[in-house]
Order: sequence, then structure tokens, then C-alpha cells
Amino acid sequence: MGATGSLTFNSTPPDPAAFAQLRDDCGCGLLPVDVARRAIAGGLINITCHDDDMLVGCGRVVGDGVVYFYLQDIIVHPAYQRRGIGRQIVERLLTQTKQMIPSEGTIGLLAVHGKEAFYEQLGFTSRPTPSFGAGMSMYVTKQQA
Ligand SMILES: CC(C)(COP(=O)(O)OP(=O)(O)OC[C@H]1O[C@@H](n2cnc3c(N)ncnc32)[C@H](O)[C@@H]1OP(=O)(O)O)[C@@H](O)C(=O)NCCC(=O)NCCS
Repeated sequence: MGATGSLTFNSTPPDPAAFAQLRDDCGCGLLPVDVARRAIAGGLINITCHDDDMLVGCGRVVGDGVVYFYLQDIIVHPAYQRRGIGRQIVERLLTQTKQMIPSEGTIGLLAVHGKEAFYEQLGFTSRPTPSFGAGMSMYVTKQQA
């Protein structure tokens, strides 16, 4: 498997089953397809990258659509990494996000450990800084009934 030169980028939501498979292939965790479908439907902006009809990369923006925006699920299939696909996905998401911001807003993300440099090259600042605290998160899991 590898890029064949027929890569296409689109601003349409990914197929939920392909999205769930790509997440799993990249070690981002298994999502049931119906959960993936609902998550995608709740987002603001999507970018996909296909090699022919195979989903090989994607990214989403979630948020309020006015002042707060967060990048999620920036994922490139391992066989397609380090070819500029992730950069193109983030750049396209940022272009569309900036068009939605009326005057000023914040674009955030939670980088996976070791991926900070990838996002710094694209304009993000690692926290904490002298004026901004660390990003924080809470992972919630519910027992199956
Ligand atoms: C992080 C990820 C999306 C990067 O996608 P990619 O297509 O491999 O990245 P690109 O080829 O577009 O790289 C763009 C630039 O970032 C650099 N870069 C890519 N991965 C990097 C890494 N892990 N650490 C440091 N720099 C990195 C590249 O060298 C390149 O720089 P250049 O333009 O000066 O050559 C991809 O590695 C991935 O999907 N990882 C698994 C899932 C994951 O961890 N997602 C992050 C969720 S926060």
C-alpha cells in the first residue's frame, strides 16, 4: 500500500465506516460506526484525502462556529504519512475555519505526544507559555450496560 499519485482532497464528511477504520488503523481508538456517524454529523468542517476510493487521511473541526474551534481526528494512514497529506489537511481546515471567524477567535487542538512539532510548523503554539496555561482534558468512559 502507498500513495499512487491519484490523491484527491475534498471538503465533504468521510464515510463513517471508513473513518472508524482509519482511526483504528492509526491507533486512535475503535469507534462503533453509529457513534462515528453521529460524531461526524456534529462537526463543522471536514477534509478528506482519498487514494482512488480509499480514505487515507482526514481531519475535522468542531466548535461553536463563531469564536471557538478545535481540530480533531487529524489522521493519515501509516502507509501515507510524511508525504505532505497531513499538512494539506490542516491547511485546508485552517483556511475554512478562518473564513468562519467574524472578527476574532481561537483555534485549538490536543496534540498526541510527539506530534507537537507537526502542528508548530502549521502555526500553533505549544502550551503552557508565560501567559497561557497548559491545555487540559478529561477522558470519560461509561461501562457497557
Ligand atoms: C500527525 C500526522 C497527521 C502527520 O501527517 P503526515 O501526512 O505524516 O504529515 P506531513 O507529511 O504533512 O508533514 C508535514 C510536516 O510535519 C512534519 N512532521 C510530520 N510528522 C511529524 C512528527 N511526528 N513529528 C515532527 N514533525 C512531523 C514533516 O516533516 C513535515 O515537515 P516539512 O513540510 O518541513 O517536511 C500523522 O503522523 C498521523 O496521522 N499520525 C497518527 C495519528 C495521530 O497521531 N494524530 C494526531 C492527533 S492529535
